[in-house]
Amino acid sequence: MSEPDADRTRDGAVQPAATQPVAAQPAAAQLSAITVNVTLNVNGQARRLDLDPRTSLLDALREHLRLSGTKKGCDHGQCGACTVLVNGRRVNSCLTLAVMRQDDEIVTIEGMGRPGDLGPLQAAFVERDGFQCGYCTPGQICSAAGMLAEVEAGWPSHATADVSSTRIELTDEELRERMSGNICRCAAYPNIAAAIRDVAAHGDGAARGAGHTARGGPR
Ligand code: FES
Ligand code: FES
Repeated sequence: MSEPDADRTRDGAVQPAATQPVAAQPAAAQLSAITVNVTLNVNGQARRLDLDPRTSLLDALREHLRLSGTKKGCDHGQCGACTVLVNGRRVNSCLTLAVMRQDDEIVTIEGMGRPGDLGPLQAAFVERDGFQCGYCTPGQICSAAGMLAEVEAGWPSHATADVSSTRIELTDEELRERMSGNICRCAAYPNIAAAIRDVAAHGDGAARGAGHTARGGPR
């Protein structure tokens, strides 16, 4: 005999019919109404925002501060398009909450230079044609600034032959490994690498690569 209010699993066991989560909807609506006051230090300016505490740093920058230079690619930490500098270190802004970054110094691509006054990495990308569509470029440049600071600081990578050495030579293998978190769907990699090499060769490390406002390196 059939049981109208029950479901059968694949092996025929009878389970009670699912009950409706009547209380869940008001709770969710309540949660989305909660905001917190957040002050972010972005490109040398303190910016106050009322944010849902679940807002990522990426969404705070793009949707609330209108700093749309930082790009959303995957929103899952896989592509590097959202890379910014936080206290001189490169960070995927889609993977960190804005509320966690209140005491930090954040630098986006807008803080690295401006039209007519480009930072060294920005100028090198233009000079070397290190982009096609340009979608990954802000993340590539912020990541390169952080990466050059890591090299200057003697941080080893997976490609470093002698991890005990504090002097890192930026070989092709090192550069590729260290920039591997930044995907370019246009495959402009040779020109991206050439641009970064130009800056590295001039000793224009992250301090200058990060332009006007960044601290310029890991600390
Ligand atoms: S958008 Fe953050 S890593 Fe892709
Ligand atoms: S320039 Fe198009 S994704 Fe890199």
